[in-house]
Amino acid sequence: MTQTITENIYASVTHNVSPKSTTKNAKTKAVLNQAVADLSKAASIVHQVHWYMRGTGFYYLHPKMDELMDGLNASLDEMSERLITIGGAPYSTLKEFDEHSKLDETTGSFEKTMDDHLARLVEVYTYLAALYQVGLEVTDEEGDAPSNDIFTAAQADAEKTIWMLQAERGQAPGIK
Ligand SMILES: [Fe+2]
Repeated sequence: MTQTITENIYASVTHNVSPKSTTKNAKTKAVLNQAVADLSKAASIVHQVHWYMRGTGFYYLHPKMDELMDGLNASLDEMSERLITIGGAPYSTLKEFDEHSKLDETTGSFEKTMDDHLARLVEVYTYLAALYQVGLEVTDEEGDAPSNDIFTAAQADAEKTIWMLQAERGQAPGIK
């Protein structure tokens, strides 16, 4: 993960938070809500892969996508409920997820190879790992240890998923 991706996400997530904001956890709330939008979109992207994959490996990769969706949805629920716990209001409509997520979706296509699908998932999880890095930095800055803990676990999980997806593709993780 390059420093630049993390810096860009940090800047865009916190640009609406005034430096003079009196809310002591404003950036933590912003990054948790960004994760809510992105995890919802990521689950939708994985669902599309689950439906549109064809080729060698289908028999184990098709159910594997269910596992990945379960993991994303568990993180989504955890981030969202932590946000509510600290006084925030999570995005909760498809429209809000779409407007606020930085992940792009494309119409499903049976033309994509299995490797095309897995490569896209590596991009999605790489973005999520970078977003979680911003979560770690912001929660450190604002002294929110429980939220920091959530981002730590989520980042470890995203990086492990990248390793496994890349191994399936015959490639090194390429994370750090
Ligand atoms: Fe299914």
